[in-house]
Amino acid sequence: MEITCCCIVLCILGSSALGILGNPTNITEGINVQEITIEPKVYAYEGDRAELIYNVTVRSDLPPDRLYEKAVWFSADRQNYCEISQGETKCRGDQFANRTEISDTWFPVSEGERTRHGRIVFRLGNVTLSDTGRYEGEIKTFDNINNVNTMLVVKDASERPKDEDTANQVGTTTWWNGFGAGIGTLLGSGLAIAFIVILSVKLAVRRKSSQQASTAPV
Ligand SMILES: *[C@@H]1O[C@H](CO)[C@@H](O)[C@H](O)[C@H]1NC(C)=O
Ligand SMILES: *[C@@H]1O[C@H](CO)[C@@H](O)[C@H](O)[C@H]1NC(C)=O
Ligand SMILES: *[C@@H]1O[C@H](CO)[C@@H](O)[C@H](O)[C@H]1NC(C)=O
Ligand SMILES: *[C@@H]1O[C@H](CO)[C@@H](O)[C@H](O)[C@H]1NC(C)=O
Repeated sequence: MEITCCCIVLCILGSSALGILGNPTNITEGINVQEITIEPKVYAYEGDRAELIYNVTVRSDLPPDRLYEKAVWFSADRQNYCEISQGETKCRGDQFANRTEISDTWFPVSEGERTRHGRIVFRLGNVTLSDTGRYEGEIKTFDNINNVNTMLVVKDASERPKDEDTANQVGTTTWWNGFGAGIGTLLGSGLAIAFIVILSVKLAVRRKSSQQASTAPV
């Protein structure tokens, strides 16, 4: 009797510890490989289409009907969300109505691999400054729920660099924090040029003002 009680307590402790850690661990023969990741910050300009791309990992032997839900919530209220659940896709909430899309793709699993990788892509069209906020991505299976937060930062349309207009005719200006992965070459070079131009203008201004204040120590 005492042994049974002890086991129940330990089991509860064990499962909550796994839940809190949320990271893949080795404890239970790799059962907890499930994961969802995204860049911490994604930027877009007012009027554009923002794109949140989540990398997801589940067990390769997970039957499709045990992947219950893939969702993105707008965290300020959790009234606005998109989800793919049991093969059905839906988006709800005033803020998300008629301008959101969610889709998922999965990469093939090679023989003997224990994990399956995929992507969830969430798109929010015609973004406004009020779309700035925390977005939460979630995957849920029969034994696990994983969440990740990202900050969508919508910038005022007037802040858009001039050179970008031509590079941006597809209507999407999403780029990743730190100009890293995912940046289109075209958009990338447009931004790089804008950056160099702005930088050199700033340097020129600085040089001029330091010449004026030529008494300042070097
Ligand atoms: C996890 O387990 C595998 C074998 O099951 C082992 O090769 C690997 O080193 C372990 N990783 C860690 C971080 O303990
Ligand atoms: C997502 O996966 C891609 C490769 O498929 C990688 O380049 C990128 O860094 C990953 N992003 C995150 C946030 O894990
Ligand atoms: C969304 O579209 C439906 C019909 O396609 C329309 O009835 C509804 O008013 C629209 N909602 C918003 C918030 O624009
Ligand atoms: C985008 O949003 C603005 C402001 O909410 C609205 O005036 C405009 O008609 C929208 N454009 C499209 C294409 O939905």
